Amino acid sequence: MTNGVRDGITAVRRILVLAGTALLIVLAGAAGAWASEGATPGADDTGDGGSGVVVDAGVRVVGGARTTTDEHPWAVFLTDGAGFQFCGGTLVAPTKVLTAAHCMATTSPQQVMVVAGRDDKQSTTGDTSAVTSAWVSPEFEGVGKGADLAVLTLATPSTRTPLPLAGPGDEALYQDGRAAQVYGWGATSESATPSRYLLTATVPVRGDDYCRAGDRTFDARRLTCAGFDQGGVDSCQGDSGGPLVAAGKLIGVTSFGDGCARAGRPGYYVRVATLRDALRSQLT
Ligand code: ARG
Repeated sequence: MTNGVRDGITAVRRILVLAGTALLIVLAGAAGAWASEGATPGADDTGDGGSGVVVDAGVRVVGGARTTTDEHPWAVFLTDGAGFQFCGGTLVAPTKVLTAAHCMATTSPQQVMVVAGRDDKQSTTGDTSAVTSAWVSPEFEGVGKGADLAVLTLATPSTRTPLPLAGPGDEALYQDGRAAQVYGWGATSESATPSRYLLTATVPVRGDDYCRAGDRTFDARRLTCAGFDQGGVDSCQGDSGGPLVAAGKLIGVTSFGDGCARAGRPGYYVRVATLRDALRSQLT
């Protein structure tokens, strides 16, 4: 055999080895996707047939899917002085946005812009408004302590449809297992960067005992929690301040969690129904 032939055979062997490796990687990837499908809670009790069934790491929140601000015009995001999206919010009146108090802890109202009608953070669609003032709940003492709520007043009134707040008569929406939708531009997994697009996921609201099991200092008057026993679907970093919605009402404001989408570690949301009346004077 000439060296040329031997080289040729070696090259063919190398290609075969490379192809084999590539096939193994593809198979492993598929197995991984299957495993996450199995771990992702089914759509059975969520009322959302699409939730968590297809795995596509690029565009999915922790177990969620893309949605639009056309369908959810009250879903807004906040940008900081550098123009980066860092929290979510909900339009609750033409000039009022409800968000988390902790979103205002590292910034000032002068630096924040509220962006409405923009599904894709890299686009310039929708409209932006400066914030003239921010009211931070005097009951806020820190994440997980007190009422993690803030109300931003917009310089430019929004023409988009606001979302009504749940009130004291809406306790049924907080029953264990009741499906709710969370929205945001936050991280698509615990270690991921924020999402480029608005995402939504359906999660079951949990009873106080379950919430307390995941967070010993759980304050049932001001908080609720949501998530499947096995995790897999959750809000995450960057979703804070954004909406948790049931029956067309804002029932929660994304506040905190232990990591994201972990088993036995639900996401925690400010309980809007019990705090609504105290907020009323801030919303007009
Ligand atoms: N604190 C986070 C934020 O500032 C929200 C975390 C929500 N975490 C969760 N596991 N649900 O964006």
